[in-house]
Amino acid sequence: MSGHVPVMLPEVLEALAPQADQVIVDGTFGGGGYSRAILAAAPCRVIGLDRDPDAVARGHLLAQEMPSRFTMVETQFSRLDEIDHPIDAVVLDIGVSSFQIDQAERGFSFMQDGPLDMRMGKDGPSAADVIAQLSEAELSALFHHYGEEREARRIARAIVTDRVDKPYLRTSELAGVVARVIGRKHHDGIHPATRVFQALRIYVNDEIGELEKALVAAEAILPAGGRLVVVSFHSLEDRAVKTFLAERSKAASGSRHTPTLTGPAASFDLITRKPVVASDAEIAANPRARSAKLRAAIRTCAPARPRPISGLRGVPTLDQIRRAA
Ligand SMILES: C[S@@+](CC[C@H](N)C(=O)[O-])C[C@H]1O[C@@H](n2cnc3c(N)ncnc32)[C@H](O)[C@@H]1O
Repeated sequence: MSGHVPVMLPEVLEALAPQADQVIVDGTFGGGGYSRAILAAAPCRVIGLDRDPDAVARGHLLAQEMPSRFTMVETQFSRLDEIDHPIDAVVLDIGVSSFQIDQAERGFSFMQDGPLDMRMGKDGPSAADVIAQLSEAELSALFHHYGEEREARRIARAIVTDRVDKPYLRTSELAGVVARVIGRKHHDGIHPATRVFQALRIYVNDEIGELEKALVAAEAILPAGGRLVVVSFHSLEDRAVKTFLAERSKAASGSRHTPTLTGPAASFDLITRKPVVASDAEIAANPRARSAKLRAAIRTCAPARPRPISGLRGVPTLDQIRRAA
């Protein structure tokens, strides 16, 4: 089993700028690449979070190495506001780790046969349950919204027709039906099952919902000057981060006609106006870095917005997907 190569590590460290005695939350511990680099960059403390028990076990090994500087917590990063300690910065590296993809039995990969699972936290309904239980219209909406799959309707129809005779239980079975419907080559040259697997993974783990809650939680717990750094890997996630930070960094302003301030003050100042992307050299060495986008911001002293996140236009929730179906 290969390890996980951390993506955009120098850029993450620059955006986080860890300082002595700070407490930094690595909300996606994974293989610990970010945590170790942060601990090496400054005499600070790191709290690692991950929902995957395998990642948590790796984190406990790091905690044994550095008991006074590193703590590992098994939890979802949407709950980071439950951390009972003042926090100076939060970093999130959204998505799956190579540890998860490379282990066929976790069911994330269409390249290797394994159970159709995809649960990062190893609990709740699996991808096989979703494929068995959603209606044709729901599956189609899911593949369309979360996978941006053009052939969503045809794939959903084929699945629902076939599952009457035999449930889909293996990754190879699902990859097979997608390839059968849309042909061996996808229209944009990627593996035909890429988008369907991505959509299912996002749904099974409620990845967009988790991210939205984590952004709001970070806003709530970070003090003035605290940093939020997010690396994401596909357009829906990046859109969620971009929309949140754009909304929260918009300064309240009056107009020529109504010069008094309107609306709440900005709760974040952007460090990155445009997303930072990986260098050509990093992409050549690690193709996973190709789609990575880093966005970062510094918390202002303005209060956190009282209302829940509202600005994620265009990123449907699970309920909206069901209703659209
Ligand atoms: C891309 S990997 C992180 C790799 C890490 N930065 C490193 O350098 O090794 C993403 C990790 O985040 C975890 N994860 C994804 N969604 C999560 C969530 N909502 N809550 C907690 N952990 C999550 C996954 O289990 C995975 O281990």
